[in-house]
Amino acid sequence: MAPCRRSVDLYDRPVARVFSGIQPSGDMHLGNYLGALRQFAFDQYDHDAVFCIVDLHALTVPQDPGELRRRTLEAARIHMAAGLDPSVCTLFVQSHVHEHAELSWLMECTASVGELRRMTQFKEKADKASDQEFVAAALFTYPALMAADILLYEADRVPVGADQRQHLELARDLALRFNHRFGDTFVVPTAAVPRVGARIMDLQRPTEKMSKSVISPQGTVGLLEDAASIVRKIRRAVTDTEVEVRYDPQAKPGVSNLLTILGATTGEDPERLARRYHQYGELKADCAEAVVALLEPIQARYAELAADPAGTAAVLAEGVGKARAVAAPVLDRARAAVGLLPR
Ligand code: AMP
Ligand code: TRP
Repeated sequence: MAPCRRSVDLYDRPVARVFSGIQPSGDMHLGNYLGALRQFAFDQYDHDAVFCIVDLHALTVPQDPGELRRRTLEAARIHMAAGLDPSVCTLFVQSHVHEHAELSWLMECTASVGELRRMTQFKEKADKASDQEFVAAALFTYPALMAADILLYEADRVPVGADQRQHLELARDLALRFNHRFGDTFVVPTAAVPRVGARIMDLQRPTEKMSKSVISPQGTVGLLEDAASIVRKIRRAVTDTEVEVRYDPQAKPGVSNLLTILGATTGEDPERLARRYHQYGELKADCAEAVVALLEPIQARYAELAADPAGTAAVLAEGVGKARAVAAPVLDRARAAVGLLPR
């Protein structure tokens, strides 16, 4: 069976589809923006673009129900504040489209225990957990759900930060394996990882990535954080005992991270930027100023959106319809391919 293709552009070429997801599991941070969100806004005008708040993924670690609800809405507003225009793209909540959970089962039947066990994100999270700590089975099968997210929308391009590369490779492998076993069903996706900003590090522990899940408030810059606090955190960012400003992530992770943040924010090459600085203080001041200027319009737009809760609800309600129109026929095709009776 040939995979169905989508609408065509003015030149009669099929419009490539972009899909990505972000978890509503904690405060969105600068890494999320520079690694992922910022690309979403670029992609929406020349692609058929679909973005998803992946609340089911967030449930793989314990969540307070009220907080999860609040953060899901917050995440939707941050997507729009970062430039997503719901009249151009599709923005929806994963759990509203039951096709994700259903296709995830078929993906669990396509993935092997061995390949899921090799996923670094699972290994890191499971290794960190103490013997008494609860590790959900869903943390292990998480990449199968992620593959389902992507394959349901026949996405060609998946903009993500560097930490998701391995999950994307698995999604590709599962699509290819399924197509090989059952006939052409899925479009095989490719990761789109930004050249600069794909891995923003924690300001206090620059050998670890900035993250929602790790409790490192001084090392993480929130997208909704006030300017004074952002400036303070960047000024206090951990560097090293040398004085030379040089881009060398191995030997100088703290300084290199500041150069990366400044470079990603201003569109310059971090190595070239380094030559312009002779003191860490100057670099930190410029980096802080650039980040505050970057986030200011996003925060202003966020405040407007937060003042109109009905507006966010309407966007998400429209998003479900648009998402299901794409996802439902793809799920049906996959169900038929494996031999499930039509319902
Ligand atoms: P998550 O916070 O895990 O839901 O990630 C959402 C998106 O942000 C994914 O595409 C990640 O790859 C990206 N991302 C998360 N943390 C970082 C970071 N520290 N640097 C760059 N991208 C990141
Ligand atoms: N696993 C991704 C993360 O933690 C989030 C995610 C879920 C995702 N489904 C996706 C990203 C589909 C891209 C495409 O960052």
